[in-house]
Amino acid sequence: MDYNRFISAISKARKPNPMRETASYVLSGPPTLISLGAGKPNPTTFPYKSIQVEAKDGSKFTLDGSELSRALQYSETSGISELRSWLANLHLKYHDPPLMKTDNFDICVTPGCMNGLSKVLTSLLSPGDHVLVEDPTYTGVISFLRPLPIKIIGVETDALGLNPDSLLKVLSRWNPKDALDADSGIPKVLYTVPNCANPTGASTSMERKKRIYEIARTYNLVIIEDDPYFFLQFNAKLAPSYQSMDTDGRVIRCDSMSKIVSPGFRIGWVSGAKPFVERIVYDQQSSALHCNTVSQVLAIKLFDLWHTDGFERHLESIRNFYRAQRDAAISSLNKWLSGLAEWSVPEGGMFLWVKIHKVEDTREMILKRAFAMEVVVLPGAWFSVDSKKSSAYCRVSYSSASPAKMDEGIRRLSEVVRDEISSLSP
Ligand SMILES: Cc1ncc(COP(=O)(O)O)c(C=O)c1O
Repeated sequence: MDYNRFISAISKARKPNPMRETASYVLSGPPTLISLGAGKPNPTTFPYKSIQVEAKDGSKFTLDGSELSRALQYSETSGISELRSWLANLHLKYHDPPLMKTDNFDICVTPGCMNGLSKVLTSLLSPGDHVLVEDPTYTGVISFLRPLPIKIIGVETDALGLNPDSLLKVLSRWNPKDALDADSGIPKVLYTVPNCANPTGASTSMERKKRIYEIARTYNLVIIEDDPYFFLQFNAKLAPSYQSMDTDGRVIRCDSMSKIVSPGFRIGWVSGAKPFVERIVYDQQSSALHCNTVSQVLAIKLFDLWHTDGFERHLESIRNFYRAQRDAAISSLNKWLSGLAEWSVPEGGMFLWVKIHKVEDTREMILKRAFAMEVVVLPGAWFSVDSKKSSAYCRVSYSSASPAKMDEGIRRLSEVVRDEISSLSP
């Protein structure tokens, strides 16, 4: 791949930060090395003596002494080494990326997946570029992209995820050969949430993924695979990722600890071909500097205590929890909204995408009637690439409310829908 073609002007202009490069040299240097260069605070001035941690399964550890000093200190730009090796093993196990066999693979830990996404998008998009985005999609990415001097092109999705026919239709304005012409405006980037998407809950089928990857090859696109719900798939066999089929090095994956450990930790990671990940590292060297060291140390200490078995048991318990929540939400939808709305049953994640019958746009209904009835769901239009487009959908999340609260919330929603429909009737 000619990676140069994909890197944005601003990212190309960004050079390594010499202070951070020196910090990596010092961190990996021999114990005899004396550094008078770093501006690191002296750990004797940190107010904490120890951090004691007890996990729900009874695992316990204490951070003190040099381990604590290290956790409270500045650390490596791309993540502490133990966590990066642990993440590399995770990728090997769950994605087995062909790229890892070629030594053209790297990982950068970022302060959350959204932060990783913003860095990836910054590294790829230049003014005037067209970017392909599944529509509807995650609001964090829409909000990031909207102010940029670029053109966002929505690609349709349905209950089976991103639609390859729609992708081909959108791309038919260009000839694949346009990818050789820097001024043709042909999109270079496709952003997608392949599993249990936010907001639709849909997962892109394997057959579609294969077609989409082939389209990406034909049109020379980079695929940004934003997959924070990967481990929240309810089927025992997790769907193969785009990264697992990526022989070219055109897939950049963005992962997250938010749904499997804690969003407050702010740990995400970007992985893919080295020339792409290098750009993220340079960006991080001059922005966040690194992901929170305390979070990284707390996470890896627990994973080490758990071993693979414990981590997988933990994932299984999360999946069981959300599966039961989904089942409860679906049974409440069946009870209260049958005949008034329709929905698909998601195979994982946290979201239901509910289409309200006879209502063209749910915005007013939700913001006025639903909020007044003290029930919050989100209008589908908020997730559209075109903010002016109407949407008959609403996003219902089953992650947090108890089954009893969900049932009452959905009952209230059914009243809201009935009131709205009767106000529309002549
Ligand atoms: C599709 C998607 N991508 C990214 C994120 C952000 O994840 P993080 O908390 O790791 O920043 C979210 C959070 O809800 C999400 O739904």
